[in-house]
Amino acid sequence: MKWSDWRSYFERNRLTPRPDVSDAGIPPDPTLRRCLARSLAVFQLGEAGEGRIAKEAWRFATPHVDDDWRVALGHWVREEGRHARILGDCVRALGGKLITKNWTNGLWVFGRRLMGVRLKLLVVLAAEVIGITYYGLIASKLPPSAIASALAMMAAEEERHLAFHVRFFRLEMSWAGPRILFWSVWLPLGVAAGLAVLVDHAATFRRLGIDRWDAGRRFVRLVVETGRAVTRRTPQPLRAVEVPR
Ligand SMILES: [Fe+2]
Ligand SMILES: [Fe+2]
Repeated sequence: MKWSDWRSYFERNRLTPRPDVSDAGIPPDPTLRRCLARSLAVFQLGEAGEGRIAKEAWRFATPHVDDDWRVALGHWVREEGRHARILGDCVRALGGKLITKNWTNGLWVFGRRLMGVRLKLLVVLAAEVIGITYYGLIASKLPPSAIASALAMMAAEEERHLAFHVRFFRLEMSWAGPRILFWSVWLPLGVAAGLAVLVDHAATFRRLGIDRWDAGRRFVRLVVETGRAVTRRTPQPLRAVEVPR
């Protein structure tokens, strides 16, 4: 897919209506509702903070991007903003409160501000893997409800975001040096990010009956799949790195 295809994809997807999550009486267990509201508030904070990169992209030059990529990146930022609003709706419907600080979010913000666009996008890549894994897992464990559907929808959108950012990194990997550098940063970053989420959301996962080892395994598998999708010489479709639907 060319960058113009991604731009069209994001333009089409902007028309997706914001889901109504008002049946948040589910789950009935008040402890689970409290844990879930807190976890979703942490994810909400993470989804809300991607704005700067869209501006920086207009000053960022590499032969592998064009204005379609820059416009698509702006749409991607807005889509993450929509995720933040949906998660905010979920938190409020569960009787929880939005938050302005969290230690894992502090790490994300630190990572995103560290260096240029490439490193920021690498941090974003890890955030997409987190979204796919954990929104998907939580959605699969909740009883059928508007919140479960909204999380599943967001997990599916995160898969497309991952494919979008994977294409960027693939194009940058023209010789062995960048590939080795990519793995040396990506693997520790991705694994550490996944572990931080497992620790931070342990109570919610326990309450939902999510096996943390299984969650960790799924996460690491997707980190490795993503790394392979970026660095492999011949592109191959992956479970989570497919063309947009
Ligand atoms: Fe998102
Ligand atoms: Fe995303």
